[in-house]
Amino acid sequence: MKTLATVLACVALTSAASAADIAAGAAKAKEVCSACHGVDGNSTDVNYPRLAGQHPDYLAKALRDYKSGDRNNAIMKGFAATLSKKDIENVAAYFSSQKSALSSKY
Ligand code: HEC
Repeated sequence: MKTLATVLACVALTSAASAADIAAGAAKAKEVCSACHGVDGNSTDVNYPRLAGQHPDYLAKALRDYKSGDRNNAIMKGFAATLSKKDIENVAAYFSSQKSALSSKY
């Protein structure tokens, strides 16, 4: 029983440590990303993709790829470079949690 409790405590700690912090993501997004992508990720400028409602894994992968150069874009490389691994998780979770203007029509 003691072992089970220890295992459960470890699982709880691990998931708490890896859970994205949406509030921190929102703060970062507002500070850095909103000028182009909109505060809620619903950019109204066709040059900047809408991020709201996108899958978090997709957003995080895009950011990692800009950072590593696997996805080549001069603008996003600069911004992705400033993000830590945790920042990437957080902003991805934040934009993903926002309602997409693309899906509200139907
Ligand atoms: C100066 C404007 C600008 C800022 C600021 C900016 N971006 Fe971008 N972002 C772009 C452009 C332009 C693209 C399209 C690049 C391309 O063609 O790959 C893009 C693409 C992306 C994509 C890929 C979207 C997709 O559908 O594949 C993600 C994710 C992203 N940005 C996240 C962010 C985050 C997070 C921040 C803040 C840390 C940020 N951006 C700040 C201009 C900007």
